Amino acid sequence: MAMKVAVTGAAGQIGYSLLFRIAAGALFGPETCVELRLLEIPSAINALEGVAMELDDCAFPLLDSIQMGTNADQIFDGVNLALLVGARPRTKDMERKDLLDANGAIFTAQGKALNAVAADDVRIGVTGNPANTNALIAMRNAPDIPAERFSALTRLDHNRAVSQLATKTGSRVSDIRKMTIWGNHSATQYPDIFHAEIAGRHAAEVVNDQQWIEQYFIPTVAHRGSAIIEARGSSSAASAASATIDAARDWLSGTPDDDWASMAVVSDGSYGIAEGLMYSFPVTTKHGNWEIVQGLEINDFSRAKMDATAAELVQERDMVTELGLI
Ligand code: NAI
Repeated sequence: MAMKVAVTGAAGQIGYSLLFRIAAGALFGPETCVELRLLEIPSAINALEGVAMELDDCAFPLLDSIQMGTNADQIFDGVNLALLVGARPRTKDMERKDLLDANGAIFTAQGKALNAVAADDVRIGVTGNPANTNALIAMRNAPDIPAERFSALTRLDHNRAVSQLATKTGSRVSDIRKMTIWGNHSATQYPDIFHAEIAGRHAAEVVNDQQWIEQYFIPTVAHRGSAIIEARGSSSAASAASATIDAARDWLSGTPDDDWASMAVVSDGSYGIAEGLMYSFPVTTKHGNWEIVQGLEINDFSRAKMDATAAELVQERDMVTELGLI
């Protein structure tokens, strides 16, 4: 059996890292072949052909076929997983509303195409920014696909938070469980260690340093993207691809029993977050389904941060509503 995986923006930076990992079996393991469906805009098709030549040259045993194109209805036909990476970057003088509008055009069209032609079991992960609101737009333009099949990527933030916590406490990343990113994949996100564990111990107690949490940990995780642009001269790509893989793999195959993942999914009102927002929660997953972890105690510090990032998502939702995108 082969899984049909669509990747949009496949000729971009993230695509260049992501496609080779998928083709090597990182999503479904060594028993499942993959058919890649790569969507690009016309000006990037030449570059995409070069990437496909390199994929051929890797002679990946699990890679059954590569289909490339600019027509979403053709590329998404029968896909089981769609990783929506391609998006319109923010350019100079662009207001947030212009950015939402430009991306809205992409994600309304892709939502409609997925609605029309994707496989019945399709799962859709949105990496392209502004990821949460792009996912909301795609979801709302795909009325026949259950809303739970859409998610936006906050796994990179989650992984960044795990790594920072491991460094601070001198522990291994594999000892850290139950990290949470709440809210928007933006500077307002809230990386929360109050429920996290380090080798079974309460992380916030191990750290025992509220000043580090507030003045170092949260800003470092939330502004890591800008720090990487500053240092590298371009935005995070390999780590974003790796997180895109982690998120999709865990969604499809399940989180471990004693852990959870952070994923932006449609809110059902849990933790007082407005229903219908595409908000990052702690989730457990099994067989391609997710459930928001319930019953976590939220302290006042966390509550304020969770509400602030929710307020930003409400603003984004109001803007795309006003623009007629949803
Ligand atoms: P990039 O600019 O290198 O590549 C984007 C690709 O998307 C380009 O090849 C472009 O031609 C293509 N594209 C644009 N419109 C398209 C459309 N309508 N259909 C298909 N393809 C289209 O950008 P990069 O570095 O690969 O990043 C991609 C996106 O991921 C950006 O929006 C970036 O902000 C976002 N990102 C998200 C992260 C997250 O954690 N959620 C982390 C890092 C990046």
